[in-house]
Amino acid sequence: MPNRTEPCAVVLAAGKGTRMKSDLPKVLCPVVDRPMIHFVLDALENAGIRRQIIVVGYEADAVKQELASRGGDIEFVLQEEQLGTGHAVQMAQSALASQLGPTIVVAGDSPLIQPTSLKKLLDHFAKTKPALLLGTLKKENPEGLGRIVRDSNGSFLGIVEHKDATEEQRKICEVNMSTYLFNTPDLLDSLSKLSNDNTQSEYYLTDCPRLLRESGRDVEAIAVLQSCESLSINNPAELELVDQTMRSMGY
Ligand code: UD1
Ligand code: CA
Repeated sequence: MPNRTEPCAVVLAAGKGTRMKSDLPKVLCPVVDRPMIHFVLDALENAGIRRQIIVVGYEADAVKQELASRGGDIEFVLQEEQLGTGHAVQMAQSALASQLGPTIVVAGDSPLIQPTSLKKLLDHFAKTKPALLLGTLKKENPEGLGRIVRDSNGSFLGIVEHKDATEEQRKICEVNMSTYLFNTPDLLDSLSKLSNDNTQSEYYLTDCPRLLRESGRDVEAIAVLQSCESLSINNPAELELVDQTMRSMGY
């Protein structure tokens, strides 16, 4: 059994990306002339995260083939049916059983993720040792994104998906960009409690924070993400915007 005390990452990359209107799986759509997922894996590597578990599904073989030449400590797990982001991480459960260090979960459609943000999360996590630390930021137009709900003292309560949010909650501008740092046993525990009782009938990873809080565990959300990290790719317009932004940043 390998000694897994270093942090590892789970990268969500199984979705078709229906809104992209492309034959390619979303994570293989190119930005700055490379399939977007490479930038996510580069950022993890640059933050010192060697072990990378990639959840593949739609066109799994094409994604595996693209990443085969990267080398490093990459593993693939298969999500045959795309039943939601929480379900995707459930597919990594057995791979995570040997993981003693914490687990970062990130989305494959967010190539602007910054190694400096990941390092800030790792540093904070090492100090406060919560069950889960979420990286967030405030975004002027948060349409479509999960919102961070806090109580009147500013303590984190949960994430509510845009589609499930009330009018009042939709006014919240602090958003979830799918940048999670979990204590691994707590991740596994919360994954086992997920249900698909929501507007989209999906198993949402965004329910894990609330489930952990409800079982008395410590969940923190800190707004450490940079403004460029508020960009992710869900449609051709966002692909174009991310491509332009990355080029102007010198990628
Ligand atoms: C998700 C978050 C939302 C957040 C947003 C931006 C959930 C429920 N919502 O929404 O709070 O604001 O990202 O970070 O998590 N994927 C799989 N398998 C699946 C479904 C998705 O691997 O069954 C992958 C996709 O390929 C993609 C990533 O997970 O890379 C995110 O999925 P997506 O459908 O884009 O989620 P959002 O609706 O953007
Ligand atoms: Ca997305």
